[in-house]
Amino acid sequence: MKGVVFTEFLDMVEKRHGADFVDDIIEDSHLSSGGSYTAVGTYPHTEMVSLIHALAARNQCAVPVLMLDFGHHLFGRFHANYPTFFDNVHCALDFMEGIENIIHAEVRKLYPDAELPKFEVEYRDSKQLRLLYDSHRHFEDLAEGLILGCIDHFGVPHQLQRENDVSGPQGKTRFILTRL
Ligand code: HEM
Repeated sequence: MKGVVFTEFLDMVEKRHGADFVDDIIEDSHLSSGGSYTAVGTYPHTEMVSLIHALAARNQCAVPVLMLDFGHHLFGRFHANYPTFFDNVHCALDFMEGIENIIHAEVRKLYPDAELPKFEVEYRDSKQLRLLYDSHRHFEDLAEGLILGCIDHFGVPHQLQRENDVSGPQGKTRFILTRL
């Protein structure tokens, strides 16, 4: 996983809980990287899972809730860091429809070694988008948080439903966004 995700995570934790707390969760996590990340480096995605578990243990919070919360926060950081990805996109459905072929395609140009999930557009009309998320890393909670961040960013209320897709051998997740 690209270091930018780790640096954004640790910055968020530092702003909320302070630098000593960041050192504590790094120590709790027993990371092979030692917890010093650079934005362009690449690190095992399992280190993100360890860090989130350490945060959950210290805060007595549920891991999925923290992942979702981080995803929501991360969307705002992506907007700040990659403003050109938002040029000429005016609504959450259009943004999310282009996640695979536009947004993550651009991310891949910037970071050729990025480990990105697959998103398949199953259906789209003027009010609804159905997306299938597929990743052996299983960051569906992060995905849900990012989508909620995207909806909030564009400022128009949408319902977000999430269901497990059981049609294939590997568990995929369907996200259904409906404009209200
Ligand atoms: C400007 C917007 C975005 C940028 C710049 C961006 C960029 C990135 C980057 C750099 C990574 C890490 C790649 C790696 O680990 O090597 C990533 C992973 C990921 N992105 Fe995005 N992303 C954006 C929007 C979104 C949105 C809206 C979603 C919503 C579903 C999303 C879903 C994910 C997920 C779930 C992962 C974790 C990897 C996995 O699931 O296998 N991204 N993205």
